[in-house]
Amino acid sequence: VDNGPLAGRRVVITAGPTREPIDPVRYISNHSSGKMGYAIAEAARAAGATVTLVSGPVSLAAPSGVEVVPVQTAEDMLRASSAEVDKGADIFIATAAVADYRPSATADQKMKKSSETLSLELVRNPDTLATIAARSDAPFTVGFAAETNDVAAYATDKMKRKKLAMIVANDVSAPGIGFNSDQNAVTVFWSGGQRAIGPAPKSEVARELVALIAERMPAQP
Ligand code: PMT
Repeated sequence: VDNGPLAGRRVVITAGPTREPIDPVRYISNHSSGKMGYAIAEAARAAGATVTLVSGPVSLAAPSGVEVVPVQTAEDMLRASSAEVDKGADIFIATAAVADYRPSATADQKMKKSSETLSLELVRNPDTLATIAARSDAPFTVGFAAETNDVAAYATDKMKRKKLAMIVANDVSAPGIGFNSDQNAVTVFWSGGQRAIGPAPKSEVARELVALIAERMPAQP
């Protein structure tokens, strides 16, 4: 891998869900398994890169040769990702399914049931991908877009709004792909082009995506 297309490059990847605590025993989260992000980490390592995974709670083993920084919440993910990019990164890939909102307060003790209804106040979480892409020293930044409808339009809008080099649109309404499955099918968009990858195992989608990133990113100075 020393002469792979990403040899000498450092890649930081977010993966998995985040968990936003309600009280000591409950949280808000989603169905992300981390499989897509871990597959990309493995493919980037095989392409010769030095790879760090900033990972929410998942039940996957660290791919061999990949450093894993475990996080729980969206705020942890932003802090850990920023610290990793501070060390210098050529590529940042955000596959994590980050909770957009968190409870405005976390109870210190387990909440008891009493009333028939319960309202939770939620507040917006920071956006790791947008924050990294807005840095003056931003790496080649690749976002994902999980959409259930108007996939291409929402994805390209997200790419422009968050100032990304590339966005990977994932139709998460289609059965058998996306969250928690072993297969995926995506369409990658960049300024002036697009490519469909899959349906295929996430390992294959990851390999093709890493090859496309290596092809599209600026040459090493
Ligand atoms: O983990 P798996 O089970 O393998 O499933 C893979 C996947 C479906 C989770 C993955 O392929 C995927 O689509 N990931 C993006 C999920 C998502 O939350 O998309 P979004 O459209 O809400 O977010 C857009 C982008 O901003 C994503 O790159 C996301 O990581 C990033 N983001 C979003 C919110 C936030 N607060 N911080 C972020 O960094």
